[in-house]
Amino acid sequence: MQDSKEMLFEVDKNKCLKCGICVKDCAFGALGVGKDQTPVMKQPQNCMLCQHCFAICPSGAVTFDGIRPEEALEVESADIPTAQQMENWMKVRRSMRSFKDEDVDRALIEKLLKLLANSPTGCNARGLTFNCYPDRNAMNKFRKSFIKVLEEHRDGSKLLPRWLAAPAIKLRNGTGDMFFRGATGMLIVSCDETKTGVATPLEDVVIACSNFEHLANANGISTCWCGFLKLVQNEVPELLEKIVGIRRSTPFYAILFGKGSTKYTRGVERGRYAEIKINS
Ligand SMILES: Cc1cc2nc3c(=O)[nH]c(=O)nc-3n(C[C@H](O)[C@H](O)[C@H](O)COP(=O)(O)O)c2cc1C
Repeated sequence: MQDSKEMLFEVDKNKCLKCGICVKDCAFGALGVGKDQTPVMKQPQNCMLCQHCFAICPSGAVTFDGIRPEEALEVESADIPTAQQMENWMKVRRSMRSFKDEDVDRALIEKLLKLLANSPTGCNARGLTFNCYPDRNAMNKFRKSFIKVLEEHRDGSKLLPRWLAAPAIKLRNGTGDMFFRGATGMLIVSCDETKTGVATPLEDVVIACSNFEHLANANGISTCWCGFLKLVQNEVPELLEKIVGIRRSTPFYAILFGKGSTKYTRGVERGRYAEIKINS
């Protein structure tokens, strides 16, 4: 990433149609029209680095942060899921609660994590950190550290609540894994809200997890949200700081993954339970 935002935005004057569409689409007026009608970065402090100018240019005249238009996927040729495919997916996507004792292809996970960087964030803040435990080895180390922190936890003389102590003992003894469902991998997404420009930390985190769920399943990897980690963190606030270095009170969420060992025969129909109000 270059330092100066003026330098990020470059226009090939031979290709520019002078249509002004990039200037109009610029959400906070960072771009303006120059003397010769070509766009220029006028208010760099307003640039969110969202790359809309790069994406919208009909003639491919904009290079942004050194990324040339030839390097980007054309919307016309992008093979995105159809309405029917999305409808099917909404019905058959499932939380997986039992996993095969097999690792997921690491290169695939790395590819998906890079793609996640395209998830939207409020004000394009991009303050997310992706902590991934990609395989059984990493996950088991995480489990061991998790148990250790729980065992060492002291909150005055208060013991861990039973709902937490009982499954923790099972996890330690290898007789149950209520927290992590036997998953071979886990992604923890966190957002350092103290970073400049971060407006919507928890929303950004949850959107990225949700995108991971879709991407992973589209690649044959099953997932399950790990709300339990959140509950345990509430009870043991030093937990993630000790294991991963995620500071207390930092917004985060976790999602488990692996090769699912359960097959669901049909989709669910939950539409009737939703309260849908169409207002006029
Ligand atoms: C934010 C969130 C946290 C969740 N946490 C857990 C969890 O810790 N363990 C678990 O087994 N399932 C967890 N789930 C899965 C839900 O129980 C599940 O989504 C719900 O029962 C609906 O089933 P489905 O995902 O198969 O449609 C969580 C789901 C969400 C959205």
